[in-house]
Amino acid sequence: MQVLNESIYDHPKYYDLVFGADCAAETKFILGCANEYLSRPAKRFFEPACGTGRLLYSLAKRGFEVDGLDLNPKAVEFCNARFVRHEMPFRAFVADMSDFRLKRKSDVAFNTINSFRHLSSEADADAHMRSMAAAVRVGGLYLLGVHLTPTEVPPSDGESWSARRGHLMVNTHMWTNSRDPKKRVEKYGIRFDIHRPSGSVRIEDELVLRSYTHKQMASLINRSGLWETEATYDFGYDLADPITVDASSEDVVYVLRRCRG
Ligand SMILES: C[S@@+](CC[C@H](N)C(=O)[O-])C[C@H]1O[C@@H](n2cnc3c(N)ncnc32)[C@H](O)[C@@H]1O
Repeated sequence: MQVLNESIYDHPKYYDLVFGADCAAETKFILGCANEYLSRPAKRFFEPACGTGRLLYSLAKRGFEVDGLDLNPKAVEFCNARFVRHEMPFRAFVADMSDFRLKRKSDVAFNTINSFRHLSSEADADAHMRSMAAAVRVGGLYLLGVHLTPTEVPPSDGESWSARRGHLMVNTHMWTNSRDPKKRVEKYGIRFDIHRPSGSVRIEDELVLRSYTHKQMASLINRSGLWETEATYDFGYDLADPITVDASSEDVVYVLRRCRG
């Protein structure tokens, strides 16, 4: 099989298929949080690091206003092309999630699958929390989904899944390459094995993510002075089943409320 050592984010068509399966559960959770934790109905949603905009599109289809940004121009182009195809006026834009300004504030922002961990320094993470605070109205929400590093149990290793659309099939495998808790860097290998009638190809990449224990995450949230934790869930996205985050927690969605800072 031909192997391409390229960023998976430079292949939005395959990325969108691989991560598209979870869209329904994530959309239901986002809308459920808005319903549960806001005092008035949400109108506008914002996603930093929106990638292909799979979730923004899902919300826009339901009649909500959306905003989105991503660092990768190919992902943004893919995202915008889908909105153009469906004659929706929304446009995502290219920007860094640690330093941006929106023209309008949202009721709810979300960042569900570890994208936040792409920010490689504490300074960038703090700057992100400040930029987000300017993008969400006081009383609004930021749903921040991260995979924490557990300190009391060994972290889980490796994951594989398949996705199919018509004649296109992508088998995805993710594994841990290295962990450096002192430098707070975790490196994950990821590969897409893509099978089409015209042949097969493998895209292989390495994701470099900053690590967070539950205490490091709590410290980031608290020192911002702009966000407080309203509730926590796991990636089961079950609103009826909130979790308590502790030293053995891994996948966590923080429901943060924008407070007056
Ligand atoms: C795991 S993908 C998630 C995409 C989308 N949120 C979703 O749920 O499908 C991570 C995304 O983060 C983007 N990204 C990485 N660093 C970024 C940064 N500093 N600012 C904005 N986007 C960034 C990547 O380009 C990629 O599209």
